[in-house]
Parts: sequence; structure tokens; C-alpha cells
Amino acid sequence: MAKSSSSSFVCNDCGAVHKKWAGRCDACGAWNSIVEEAPLSAGPRTAGLGAGRGRRIALSSLSSAEEPPPRTMSGLPELDRVLGGGLVAASATLVGGDPGIGKSTLLLQAAAAFARQGLSCLYVSGEEAAAQVRMRARRLGLADAPVQLAAETSLRDILTTLDALRPDLAIIDSIQTMWADNVDSAPGSVTQVRAAAHELVNFAKRRGTSVILVGHVTKDGQIAGPRVVEHMVDTVLYFEGERGHQFRILRAVKNRFGPADEIGVFEMTGAGLSEVANPSAVFLSDRGQATPGSAVFAGIEGTRPVLTEIQALVAPSPLGTPRRTVVGLDAARLSTILAVLEARCGIPFAGLDVFLNVAGGMRVTEPAADLAVAASLLSAREDVALPPDMVIFGEISLSGALRPVTQTENRLKEAQKLGFTQAIAPEKSKQTAVQGIRVRKMPDLITFVGDVFAA
Ligand code: TYD
Ligand code: MG
Repeated sequence: MAKSSSSSFVCNDCGAVHKKWAGRCDACGAWNSIVEEAPLSAGPRTAGLGAGRGRRIALSSLSSAEEPPPRTMSGLPELDRVLGGGLVAASATLVGGDPGIGKSTLLLQAAAAFARQGLSCLYVSGEEAAAQVRMRARRLGLADAPVQLAAETSLRDILTTLDALRPDLAIIDSIQTMWADNVDSAPGSVTQVRAAAHELVNFAKRRGTSVILVGHVTKDGQIAGPRVVEHMVDTVLYFEGERGHQFRILRAVKNRFGPADEIGVFEMTGAGLSEVANPSAVFLSDRGQATPGSAVFAGIEGTRPVLTEIQALVAPSPLGTPRRTVVGLDAARLSTILAVLEARCGIPFAGLDVFLNVAGGMRVTEPAADLAVAASLLSAREDVALPPDMVIFGEISLSGALRPVTQTENRLKEAQKLGFTQAIAPEKSKQTAVQGIRVRKMPDLITFVGDVFAA
């Protein structure tokens, strides 16, 4: 019996295919994200061997083999940095983010910026009418930018337009609204989103148009999320930030043409997104007097150093299981650090609620933040403020030893630039001689506790 006609079950979050429906996806752990999908229509079969298919060429014969791919700078340095030094021709980029975070705003500004650099740009909106996009452009002061607009959701129509226009850059806002008429499932389903992304990425590679796909991060599991197309594109960027905060961070999580983990920092204002050239100064700007629970972490985001303030609050808990609330850091990392503090330094947090927060809506993923997290926890618990001119970095291992981290010199130089005069670093760190900063090197967490908190 041919099995191909039966439908399958696909996770809307991660795209994993399952044989049966289940409440929870085994692959990514999401609840209620699995939906039934109609099979892809097979399409006409090719009979025998395709003529001229799979032609080979010698790698060395490629004329551009030694040259870097042609790139265009947008003139928005934060965006260019995240792209790895400008937009690569014929590339496919995915920009994901929560609804309402500012993706359409960012990409309209990007389209206008690239258009002003001489690229021909087409902005396809599947969510807003052309008049609405024009209204937004006017509000952003971009009404006169030479960008073509289309309000369209039919993939066939979009590809026809693209083929006629052959723009240098096409922005598709959003991939979840695109609808391919040769696929038997609802718009927004995994099958539709994948089919649309596949066609558009294919078009980009064949015709030399760069495409940028917008993808909403979905919560309800009814619509496919951007993760299901991550593997098809060259570059994956996520636009993040707390809705209540004005800061937005564009983060490269995959980049075939540049470093991943690079970030660009923006501020949402009444007139669109403006770039934040010096994120450290901004993230530390509302730091008041020296308060217990506050520690400054000298981190590296991509290729540049960024200082952030880590804040902790520790209070007696009325609950049997005390609260562990984390914003901007990995919750599992907090548990590990609390366990090391208890097991290696004899400092228990049982019976205490712990709240941990990275100021300014920043998200810190580096293990180098461990020591700053431990410092803020201890400072809050002991009610002792750390010196306000001190930065801290170092990874804590389970034994309580401090592991050296990369780019010590860059971290220290950034701290020095912002007026810090002392630093705490792991003992084995390299290149710690930076003028104007006194660096204290510590072998392990227990030395740190004795040195900083015993006095
Ligand atoms: P939008 O780009 O529509 O988000 P997305 O495409 O990711 O869904 O941005 C929506 C939010 O941005 C909205 O809440 C209003 C805010 N905003 C500003 O604060 N200033 C502006 O100039 C613009 C255009 C939007
Ligand atoms: Mg939008």
C-alpha cells in the first residue's frame, strides 16, 4: 500500500514530523504545537533523466572564488554589522521576532536605506495595504525613498512580479501570510510556509535578488514559526527586546557570510528605530548610586564588548519552594550558580526568593557572565554594595574554579573607556594589562567571596 497519500503531523514550532498526533512535541518540547498536515502535492513526475540537470563545474573555475561575495552597505552601521558587513547579493535572510516588536519598521527603514545606496528594492506586505505602508513610511520620514511597494499574499503573483522587476532586494513581510496555490493546506501552516520560503530562496539564488523574509514568532501553535525555515536561508536574525523597553536588539544566530552572535542595538522612538552606537553607555545609563545586588558584567557580543548591569534581589520566601525568577539570562544557569555557591562556598539560598534581571532589556548568553551573576547574588544576599567602578567577568565551573574567558583585553578596554577603574577576572586570563584599570585575578569562587565580601 502506498503510504504517501496519508497525512503527517508536524510541529509548528520546530517543524519536526511525527507519525501520530501528540500533545507535546518530542523534538522541541512545545505543547499543543502539533497539527495535521496534508501531504505535499507530488506535482508532475519527470520521466527518466533530466537533460542538463546536475551539471558540474570545477571549483577553481569560479571567477569569484577568491573574492569575497559582493556586498552592499545600507548606511545603517548596526544593521550592516549584524549582516556581517552589509547585504550579500543573491542571499536569503530571515528576520524573526515577536509580533509588534518592530520588524516591519526595521525592514521599511532598511529598504529605504538600501534604496538610497542605489539598490532597487521591492517591499511586499502581506499584512498591510500599500496605503498603510505608505503612511508608516511618511511617519518614518521615508516617504520619498525610491522603494516599490506591493500588497500581495499570492506566491505566484509575487514571483511573477519579482521576475518582471528583478529587484536587487525583495522584502517579504511576512512569510506566514504567503500562500502557494499548489499546496493543499491553510496559509500559515508549516507546509505553506516552507513551500513559500523554498520558492523565494530559490528565486534569490537563480536570479541574483537578495530576499529578506520576515517571520513572526508564534505562541499559539496554530501558525508555523520562523524556525521551520531557518535551515533554508543563509542568515537568520532575531529582533528581540522587552515590549515595555525602548531598546531592541537585532541578533545574528546563523550567518553563512559573517560571524554569528553579532548584535545591533536600536531604540524605538516616535519616529521609528534609531541606532544606538554605544550600547554599553546606554545599558548602564540609568544605574544610580551603588546599590546591593548590582554588578557590572563586561561581556562580548559578537565582535564588540558590551557592558551590562546584572541586578539581583534576594528576600525571605513565604513559599515552600522559593521563587527563582530570571529575566535576560538562562534560568538553568542561575540554578547551577546557586548550587555551586551552596556546595563549594557554603552559602545557602534555601528559603530565599531570588530575582535576577539584566538591565535595559538585554539578554546575556555568555558563560563569562557567571561570576557577575554570583557577585550580584552575594551582594544582594549580604546587603553589601559592590564598588560602583568595578567590572566582573569569568566562567564558574562546577568545582567552583574560575575559567578564563576570551577577549579579556577588549572587555577591559571597554570598561576603561566608560570610567571603570577596577576589574575582577579569572586567574588564568591573558592580556590583563590595560592602563587605568586595576585587575584582581582570582583562582576560584571561594577566594572571590573571601576577598570581596569578607572585608
Ligand atoms: P511593527 O514594525 O509594526 O512590528 P512588527 O512588524 O514586528 O509586528 O512595530 C509595531 C510597534 O512599533 C507598535 O507597537 C508601535 C511601535 N512604533 C513606534 O513606537 N514608533 C514608530 O515610529 C513605529 C513605526 C512603530
Ligand atoms: Mg509587521
